[in-house]
Amino acid sequence: MVNSCRKLIFNIFIGFYYSAISLPQICICFQFSTPSMDQLNQNPGTFPVATNGDPFPWRELRLPNTVFPLHYDLVVHPNLTSLNFVASEKIEVVVREATQFIILHSKDLEILSATLHSKEDFRYMAPGKKLTVLSYPAHHQIALLVPEKLTADLRYYVTIDFQAKLADGFEGFYKSTYRTLGGETRIVAVTDFEPTEARMAFPCFDEPLFKANFSIKIRRESRHIALSNMPKVKTIALEGGLLEDHFETTVKMSTYLVAFIVCDFTSVSGTSSSGVKVSIYAAPDKRDQTHYALETSLKLLDFYENYFDINYPLPKLDLVAIPDFGSGAMENWGLITYRETSLLFDPQTSSALDKLWVTKVIAHELAHQWFGNLVTMEWWNDIWLNEGFATYMELISINATYPELQFDDYFLNVCFEVIKRDSLNSTRPISNQAETPTQIQEMFDAVSYNKSCSEGDFVSGGFCYSDSKMAGSTPTLLGENVEVKEMMTNWILQKGIPLVVVKQEGHLLRLQQERFLTGISQEDPEWKVLQERYLWHIPLTYSVSSSDLIHRHILKSKTDTLHLPENFSWVKFNVNSNGYYIVHYEGCGWDQFITQLNQNHTLLRPKERIGLIHDAFQLVSAGRLTLDKALDLTRYLHHETSIPALLKGLHYLKSFYHMMDRRNISDVTENLKRYLLQYFKPVIDTQSWTDDGSVWDRTLRSTILMLACDLSHAPCIQKATELFSQWIESGGKINLPTDVLETVYSVGAKTTAGWNYLLEQYELSRSGAEKDKILYALSKSKLREKLRKLIELGMDGKVIKTQELPTLLYMIARNPEGQQLAWNFVRENWTQLLKKFELGSFAMRTIISGTTSQFSSEDELQEVKLFFESRKAQGSHLDIFQTVLETISKNIKWLEKNLPTLRTWLLVSI
Ligand code: BES
Ligand code: ZN
Repeated sequence: MVNSCRKLIFNIFIGFYYSAISLPQICICFQFSTPSMDQLNQNPGTFPVATNGDPFPWRELRLPNTVFPLHYDLVVHPNLTSLNFVASEKIEVVVREATQFIILHSKDLEILSATLHSKEDFRYMAPGKKLTVLSYPAHHQIALLVPEKLTADLRYYVTIDFQAKLADGFEGFYKSTYRTLGGETRIVAVTDFEPTEARMAFPCFDEPLFKANFSIKIRRESRHIALSNMPKVKTIALEGGLLEDHFETTVKMSTYLVAFIVCDFTSVSGTSSSGVKVSIYAAPDKRDQTHYALETSLKLLDFYENYFDINYPLPKLDLVAIPDFGSGAMENWGLITYRETSLLFDPQTSSALDKLWVTKVIAHELAHQWFGNLVTMEWWNDIWLNEGFATYMELISINATYPELQFDDYFLNVCFEVIKRDSLNSTRPISNQAETPTQIQEMFDAVSYNKSCSEGDFVSGGFCYSDSKMAGSTPTLLGENVEVKEMMTNWILQKGIPLVVVKQEGHLLRLQQERFLTGISQEDPEWKVLQERYLWHIPLTYSVSSSDLIHRHILKSKTDTLHLPENFSWVKFNVNSNGYYIVHYEGCGWDQFITQLNQNHTLLRPKERIGLIHDAFQLVSAGRLTLDKALDLTRYLHHETSIPALLKGLHYLKSFYHMMDRRNISDVTENLKRYLLQYFKPVIDTQSWTDDGSVWDRTLRSTILMLACDLSHAPCIQKATELFSQWIESGGKINLPTDVLETVYSVGAKTTAGWNYLLEQYELSRSGAEKDKILYALSKSKLREKLRKLIELGMDGKVIKTQELPTLLYMIARNPEGQQLAWNFVRENWTQLLKKFELGSFAMRTIISGTTSQFSSEDELQEVKLFFESRKAQGSHLDIFQTVLETISKNIKWLEKNLPTLRTWLLVSI
């Protein structure tokens, strides 16, 4: 059963890939053919203008499909002293339609020459006919003009010599640096291409559907090594002492997956059951942090090969920790690159959550070797096929290989994360049009990663846990025919998340579906309009108080009725929170749960309890439930036996505390503080300052001790201060328990001496995990000049690397003393920031939402709005602007509506 289920999911997903690949192709055929020379000469005014003033023969952002690449021969020589690279390539192409132009992507490359020859077209048999090269930088394109029209179905070779500077940011072929223990700065040249930056390293057909084989050669000095997607076949010595590594030809693949690195890293290696050589590379001083990654990647590679029943197709897989990295990791085929903290595990300073993160990132990027690399979406509008399924596979693979990490409890948050965004009007459908590089980058968001994979989970929840029978692509679900395709299309093309309203009338349950919106309540005039035409096929699951049985029903219409034969006190929908919908229980539904949780919470499964807490607070934001009801639902928490459930409740209470603190609403802040300390005292007092216990024991310890110290709980502050002094006395040498490191540092950073000492240790530390913890502690300082100093260091990029700046700004903005500082900084240094990070990148989006989305006043909203409008006027627009504005409005409304309730509830509760 399990086996057929996994095959089913895999088939469904592959099915989606194929429909994504075959459908759009029909329309690009005619839309994307190149003009003739005559058309160009007769109507030059209708074409864009190339850099030399000539008309550029192509208007679109997407390439024409008149010429297809088959094979790239690429030789690259990065000079790690001059920080330039020179390169040449020979692209074998096949012509689909006679044409006089070859349009390629190229960005910031200096083209030195381009020639063409053919073994099949006699006119081009003589070597190297020189081609005219036109550039159109706005579209990152070059056009190669051939003297005589290329003939359809014939093959040609395009040879291009080019050069460029190693880039300064985190894209294309860029420069990274690190310091050795001896204090020497070393250079690494590394690529990062997804989605549209392969064109910064070599002229190419830089779209995912143009798959080709790549034969790569890298020139280097003998003190360095070179790595690429494939194993090295040989090294030859060149004149002047240079070496040239030749790599095996790749399988057919998209340009965004090509990678090469020149560095002086060392590695540890092992072999998978199927004989794949797996290596972990890192800077030489960090080799002792690579062992966990090696063990994990071997285990996961074995798992995926068995699970998919498709072998990993390459002979080797390298995982490399890059000192400067824009995102978390990148799945280049055979050469996966990681930010150091996503790959390295330091037993002395990495916590339980750090281990979970490393495991998650490895599992994710390995899953891409199948989902994404082997099968690829045709275009970026369907990037969810890559990211959603890689995220979903994290759950499947980690549950199987590291059950002790209890990853599925963590995974619920994946779904909750995206609901925040998906319940705003400005959200987007999973599959979404994207044309410009910025729009394409913006597709890498919670909707692609989290929503797609939450739905993956409901597919499995719906089909796998039942005795499903397979019938082609139409699985039978307890007698009901589920048209998978129909159901999936309304989830993929329709934005938002449904709300299911349940009303109990004796043995009857009345169901109704709506579009769930926070920040806009039913009374608002626009609510009705925003509801129009939304309808989902929702695979509901539910259970009743009197039995363990899981019932299923697909809600396809606006309203529906269920008859329940049994007697029961409550019905709980969305069993184990597997489904992507919010549930509201009208009438006395919520009261029944409040009573049940107080009497015996274990009659509901832990994930049910988490789901109830989550939905209740979401419903408060939507104006459907009063805050005191949701708060009453958390009253049982001191009896809560499931740590993830306890943490969920705590999360909301904590977030209210921080909101009050940031807004300086001191009476409520003080009362919340008292309530939290009083209420969770038993949990706080039973914590040990060690690393003992399960992942969740350890997560609870980290969270609750940090909270206790943030709330100035004397015994905790005292213990943390004691440990901090011991640490300083040992010159930063003794190993403190990793789970409490962040707390100890945060308390230590409260004094100027402690803060200064931590900054010194930050510079010295070789562990990314430790550095992150120190930086977090430093960013919590109450002294503005310290916060200002951190931002300065982050901008400078030496002590605090530029890659840390987005998180740093986010953390400072969460600090009540820093929120204005961080926001003003972003406004005043926008242009500077855009020189460091691309507009649509993860980094820039973190900076924008990280420094604004905590705001909750009308003045702040106006300020942010004005700023975004001025950016738009200058041509910088991001979808996230609207998300932020709606989030701030939502916060404002929340406060308006709920502050008095919160105040009163606290007064009666403490
Ligand atoms: N394919 C992405 C890397 C990426 C992100 C490319 C954004 C282009 C734009 C990679 O597989 C990925 O998803 N990385 C994540 C880590 C993952 C564990 C969620 C990241 O970088 O945060
Ligand atoms: Zn990914």
